[in-house]
Amino acid sequence: MTTKPTLAVVGATGAVGSVMLQMLTHHADVWGEIRLLASPRSAGRKTAVRGEECEILALSEEAFEGVDLALFLVPETVAAQWAPIAVSKGAVVVDTSAAYRGDPDVPLVVPELNGHAARVRPRGIVAGPGSTTLALIVTVGSLHAEFGLAELVVTALQAASGAGAGQAGVDALRAQLGLVAADGDLGTHPGDVRRAVGENTGPFPGPLALNVLPWSGAPGADGASSAEEHVRDETRRILGLPGLRIATTCVRVPVVTGHSVSVHARFEHPVPLGRAHEILATAPGVVLCDDPAAGDFPTPADVVGTDPAWVGRVRRSLDDERALDLFVCADNLRKGAALNALQIAESLVTDLRDL
Ligand SMILES: NC(=O)c1ccc[n+]([C@@H]2O[C@H](COP(=O)([O-])OP(=O)(O)OC[C@H]3O[C@@H](n4cnc5c(N)ncnc54)[C@H](OP(=O)(O)O)[C@@H]3O)[C@@H](O)[C@H]2O)c1
Repeated sequence: MTTKPTLAVVGATGAVGSVMLQMLTHHADVWGEIRLLASPRSAGRKTAVRGEECEILALSEEAFEGVDLALFLVPETVAAQWAPIAVSKGAVVVDTSAAYRGDPDVPLVVPELNGHAARVRPRGIVAGPGSTTLALIVTVGSLHAEFGLAELVVTALQAASGAGAGQAGVDALRAQLGLVAADGDLGTHPGDVRRAVGENTGPFPGPLALNVLPWSGAPGADGASSAEEHVRDETRRILGLPGLRIATTCVRVPVVTGHSVSVHARFEHPVPLGRAHEILATAPGVVLCDDPAAGDFPTPADVVGTDPAWVGRVRRSLDDERALDLFVCADNLRKGAALNALQIAESLVTDLRDL
């Protein structure tokens, strides 16, 4: 291929899609035509990418004519149906949904850890993991390379814009905040926030404003949620540790964007704290931000809109010399979805040129 490749952004109007358009505007311009696709609801609307107004097209088979690479930023069911169609039209697909993450013929890729895996794609599809896995795995993966990971205990504090909620989650949280803002007594009696917010809690199973919800995703096995199962399955697959013990609890918190993850990581070998700091200070895609006495630790409000995973509160576990406790924050729409997909896509541009 001599000309620049044609890119399709499928789901250009969603929470991840909107961030993707910003990133395409600011990243090095390696693409020729950029085609924006969404549901028929959005067809005909205009939005800007690379400083130019671009019309949204309805997702259709014809829309993939001449497309070299398609970024899929749509719900799982839509990706499951349409990714093979895009491939049949000659496109390589990079998918952010959960549709193909468990498929052994679809590589599951985090460029900082296993970027090479994207080059072998029997189905023509490359998948990225979910935003909670992405928030923690770049950090934990860098430590694993030196100390050998034995076990993870993870509590994820997931933002309203996270997977399964997206733009609808942001809209619901903002509406709820409006409903609770005026009454300074709310949050002091059982059920008062629930009554103020009302029955319509959007994509959440209860009120999120002034509250936390220990559930996201669909019911999984043995009382786990699908979100919790995804963290375990994706982390095991990307790190190549099929037997890794991982206990996860996913909690939705009233943050618009930016996942936080509290991690207890147990390793095969004792962990010198100074060496752990050195590794984290130089790991690609990670920023160490760790002087709590000076108020220096990552929070979602501080890291939203940035690319890396930010890690702080790094300490040797009080009762276990082989374990570290740490706190990671990352923007779920950037590294948690759009950035990871775009990094994969950009790494494949040379392959597309060779086609
Ligand atoms: N949000 C996150 O933090 C995050 C992180 C990692 C992965 N992901 C994954 O990324 C994907 C997108 O998530 P999101 O949060 O951006 O969701 P979202 O805000 O709900 O956006 C969904 C997008 O998909 C489009 N869409 C929905 N149904 C469609 C259909 N039948 N045909 C064509 N387009 C359709 C929507 O278009 P319309 O506007 O026209 O409806 C919109 O552009 C999901 O698979 C999610 O699991 C999300």
